[in-house]
Amino acid sequence: MKKRNRLRATKQRQRIVMLAVVVWTVCGLVAALVIVRRTTEESAAVTVQVTPAALSAEGVEGQAVFEANCMACHGASAAGTKLGPPLIHDIYNPGHHSDQAFYLAAAAGVRQHHWTYGDMPAQPQVSEVEVGLIIRYIRELQEANGIVAKSY
Ligand code: HEC
Repeated sequence: MKKRNRLRATKQRQRIVMLAVVVWTVCGLVAALVIVRRTTEESAAVTVQVTPAALSAEGVEGQAVFEANCMACHGASAAGTKLGPPLIHDIYNPGHHSDQAFYLAAAAGVRQHHWTYGDMPAQPQVSEVEVGLIIRYIRELQEANGIVAKSY
């Protein structure tokens, strides 16, 4: 009788140890996953140093529209944030992304393709005239940062 009890106690202890090992492994895996996700999210965010430009009157107007509608994702001076890419970037030079790309982005949104931030939602609250002002602002900033049209 006593022997059987001892056997049962040993088995129970073994089960507890097994359970502890399983819980420990699961916790370790979860922690590893969280760390991997964090690092990939961070590496998706690209921000740049933007040299300020001497803006034209239209550029100044565009800045205000940009700050109200685009800055949350594209960042102050379009330098980028964790939610959207910098537009003061060679990818967006006028030869690669013409003004049309801006009108389309605001009207219809953008499918994720150059980066890993996800899709850009359409910004229908911004009129075509306002997008035109934003384009002036971005192009003037791009030029001040040496980003000029290149043919592809
Ligand atoms: C909710 C976040 C968000 C907002 C708000 C936002 N954008 Fe974007 N935008 C993105 C992301 C993300 C991308 C990159 C998509 C990709 O290429 O992977 C992008 C890409 C773009 C592009 C490149 C389009 C292309 O053809 O590759 C332009 C131009 C642009 N945005 C302009 C704007 C303008 C102008 C506004 C404000 C009216 C604006 N965005 C507001 C997130 C945003």
